[in-house]
Amino acid sequence: MKHFLSLADFTPEQIDELLQLGLRLKEEWRSGGNKPVLAGKSLALVFMKPSLRTRVSFEMAMVRLGGYAFYLSPNEIKLGNRESVPDAARVLSSYVDCIMARVYEHDHILQLAEYSSVPVINGLSDYNHPAQGLADLFTILEVKGRLRGLKVAFVGDGNNVARSLLFGAMKTGMNFAIASPAGYTLGDDDREKALAMRIDPEQTVTFVTDPAEAVRGADVVYTDVWTSMGQEAESGRRLQVFVSYQVNEELVAQANEDCIVMHCLPAHRGEEITDAVADGPHSVLWQQAENRMHAQKAILVKLLA
Ligand code: CP
Ligand code: NVA
Repeated sequence: MKHFLSLADFTPEQIDELLQLGLRLKEEWRSGGNKPVLAGKSLALVFMKPSLRTRVSFEMAMVRLGGYAFYLSPNEIKLGNRESVPDAARVLSSYVDCIMARVYEHDHILQLAEYSSVPVINGLSDYNHPAQGLADLFTILEVKGRLRGLKVAFVGDGNNVARSLLFGAMKTGMNFAIASPAGYTLGDDDREKALAMRIDPEQTVTFVTDPAEAVRGADVVYTDVWTSMGQEAESGRRLQVFVSYQVNEELVAQANEDCIVMHCLPAHRGEEITDAVADGPHSVLWQQAENRMHAQKAILVKLLA
């Protein structure tokens, strides 16, 4: 593992290793604290967009493993604006042992990785969100005890989070369905790429427009905001287009009785998810958010220890 840019880059065995290591590190943390295996290592957290979970969970993952992390706000680095991405990558990587970056254009992540002399972690781009995807697999495994053969249904925008979930599902033997309004689903290229990643030829990838169809037989119902960071100008239109894609009690009742409901957060309660579902018996939202830290410890240890 040189960088952590997309779940598509890893073999199913590597993803399983990350999940098992994350579970071990969570257990270790619970029973007294993690060993300082990253003592003396440093992580730069570069943000071109806001964050709660990604910023704090990466910082605390590093701190709890004995390392040091620091935050660089959108006003400091101004990637690709104040200086070119390759120049920023060359300089920053001469100071630190690892760079995590949250960007708009996915190409900026790829350029950082190309020109950095240290590992680069993708902390979300307009294309994908693999650290979230890994934590999502971690949470499903923790709650359900397995991944293979389960069905994940994503309801809403075919966005960065949906794409990482799709790739993660394929690499771990799950079936994936997405329900989105026409024109807002994942791409045909994503579907082709996902099908080629399957570890079992029986795994299905279904793109539909009807949320009820997607959640039928689902073990996991997943949603995310209708307007992602950077799309704010479209939010009025998106509110109208997505109005029938809300994850509410009526929709959840059509999934498996023991389904879990997931959301990467932040949530726009009353839009893509209701309070009754977010705070209801199927919700694993807080466990999912906490698991960002544990899954990311595994990424950091694999890249740096
Ligand atoms: N889920 C997630 O990445 O949250 P933040 O945007 O708060 O980091
Ligand atoms: N799709 C959302 C995820 C936030 C964690 C966004 O990109 O804004």
